[in-house]
Amino acid sequence: MAAAQRGLRGTVAGKSELSLVDGEKGRLLYRGYDIADLARHASFEETTYLLWQGKLPTRAELDRFRGDLARERPLTKAQQDLMGTFPPDALPMEVLRTMVSHKALFDPDREDPSREANLRKAVRLVAQFPAIVGAFHRHRNGRPYVAPEPGMDQATAFLTMLHGAPPTAQAARALDVCLLLHVDHEFNASTFAARVTAATLSDLYSAIVSAIGTLKGPLHGGANENVMRMLQAIGEPGKEEAYVRAALERRERIPGFGHPVYRTMDPRAIILKEMSRRLTEEMGEPRWYAMSARIEEVMMREKKLHANVDFYSASTLYALGIPPDLFSTFFACGRVPGWIGHVLEQYADNRLIRPVAEYVGPRDLAYVPIADR
Ligand SMILES: CC(C)(COP(=O)(O)OP(=O)(O)OC[C@H]1O[C@@H](n2cnc3c(N)ncnc32)[C@H](O)[C@@H]1OP(=O)(O)O)[C@@H](O)C(=O)NCCC(=O)NCCS
Repeated sequence: MAAAQRGLRGTVAGKSELSLVDGEKGRLLYRGYDIADLARHASFEETTYLLWQGKLPTRAELDRFRGDLARERPLTKAQQDLMGTFPPDALPMEVLRTMVSHKALFDPDREDPSREANLRKAVRLVAQFPAIVGAFHRHRNGRPYVAPEPGMDQATAFLTMLHGAPPTAQAARALDVCLLLHVDHEFNASTFAARVTAATLSDLYSAIVSAIGTLKGPLHGGANENVMRMLQAIGEPGKEEAYVRAALERRERIPGFGHPVYRTMDPRAIILKEMSRRLTEEMGEPRWYAMSARIEEVMMREKKLHANVDFYSASTLYALGIPPDLFSTFFACGRVPGWIGHVLEQYADNRLIRPVAEYVGPRDLAYVPIADR
């Protein structure tokens, strides 16, 4: 039997039409469209439609889709009451995971596994992710729930439900671009977890709960929060190099660097870097960008490692007023269309995912009676 690849590196684990990650050239395509192009011209909603339907929507299709999302976005009274019982210091990713599990119990299509029913569940899930995050943030700060307006797009609703007042058009567009940059990334860990769950023919909600639990880890979606914590610990420009070198000497990992696939700078990080520069300047806190850029130089020189998506998303989200402990939930809000797209793709051509292990334990041991151990 062939030897195991640690972490399945380089293993082609299935086929997908959703996104192409070209690690050598540093390109990311969704359904054939370059993310740089989508970030310039498209919205999160358009990108989500593209991923699920395999084509860009017409104006009428997009309007209908946005309307569907808006209708499903507000939290029910039961959801608000449930959230009211959560401890204010609960971890936001655990709140999200719990609320999604709870929502599954009440979904009118819960016993219908058809693609049509799954697309209706998909709209409900995508619409409510930011609503859950915003409502929990307000609950933990003792503030009342704020309902979204029916005409709001996803990014505007997100910031409104979080801060209690609508954002500027520029802030909403910046968040919109951040969301669409996170929509899909091939067989990343959380997406793969969702596919493994779906491949047992378990339901869409269960697959999404698996994905949330997987994204939570610091090697995956937790990295952006750790980037911001690092910037805050460094505190001011001029101290970055000493901080990074000391951490590397302790053999610690610097969050926001390295990637299992990209050998160049992550193409999402290139776009986020420019957004971070502009937004931190606009908020009057250019140091977060300046310090990040300096860390990037040091990491290239010391470790030859490039920034990944989490590195500049940290200062960008911070500039948009999102608290660091919500960064992973933001990542989930961006990635949930991708999880769903992969689950639908898995259902459409399913085979149980069941790899084999390279056994490295002992063999042929003689059983020892309990009295003799
Ligand atoms: C993303 C990540 C898990 C990819 O890991 P990987 O491809 O499996 O790479 P490995 O864990 O095999 O690391 C390879 C080498 O690079 C080093 N390395 C990788 N990422 C590093 C980082 N962020 N900081 C310091 N060193 C790092 C490892 O220590 C290892 O060195 P060694 O061979 O001397 O032990 C890893 O780069 C990481 O932990 N990054 C920080 C967390 C992060 O930003 N996650 C978000 C990913 S989008």
